Amino acid sequence: MAAAFTRSRSLLRWSIGSGSILGNNYNASSSSSFRAVAVRQQQQTRSNHVYTLPDLDYDYADLEPYISAEIMRLHHTKHHQTYVTNFNKALEQLQSATDPQAIVALQSALNFNGGGHVNHSIFWKNLAPPKEGGGEAPVGKLASAIDEQFGSFDRLIAKVNAEGASVQGSGWVWLGLNKDLKTLAVATTANQDPLVSKGLVPLLGVDVWEHAYYLQYKNVRPDYLKNIWKVINWKDVVARYESNV
Ligand SMILES: [Fe+2]
Repeated sequence: MAAAFTRSRSLLRWSIGSGSILGNNYNASSSSSFRAVAVRQQQQTRSNHVYTLPDLDYDYADLEPYISAEIMRLHHTKHHQTYVTNFNKALEQLQSATDPQAIVALQSALNFNGGGHVNHSIFWKNLAPPKEGGGEAPVGKLASAIDEQFGSFDRLIAKVNAEGASVQGSGWVWLGLNKDLKTLAVATTANQDPLVSKGLVPLLGVDVWEHAYYLQYKNVRPDYLKNIWKVINWKDVVARYESNV
């Protein structure tokens, strides 16, 4: 599939290059047919896009003792990789599907695996080793908004921990932003549903699937939630807030 993507990109570059060469004697029909070709090729480029597992900004052992290297390695290279692989597979099937029933049947796989890729990509950036500022409380406008809306930073943490502990089965607990109201909200999502499904911009996501903590914390999810604050990258959370508020 990677080769197909490269081929498609080459075609698009060739097409755009030809269009500029022909630009001196454009007429309405050549212009519109060029646009049609370009649009078709752009669509093909998009549908052929292959998603890849993003690198982490730190080593697997760097979040210890709060999250073990073994959890991080498995979580990243096995769990996240599986979402990426299956998302690409579903997109490939979507590209060839013409029957509406087949297209609709793919939506669940697209949501689950695409959501898994989106959510984990945010999660890795939301984490940082303590030696690189992980766990240092937020500052600036986000810190003020947290105090104003939740009463204090500690009360926000208590709320996230309580809601995260109450997620039944697998899911996520989030600090999100309502862009219209410019307010913060703590929310949970089931399985791999992305926070956008609740109309919120994700600022901070905490994975409460068992695969995120079980090898180290066994069934005691509240202990995992208590410790994860030692490795939260608030600089990343602040940046997401400030670029959206
Ligand atoms: Fe996960």
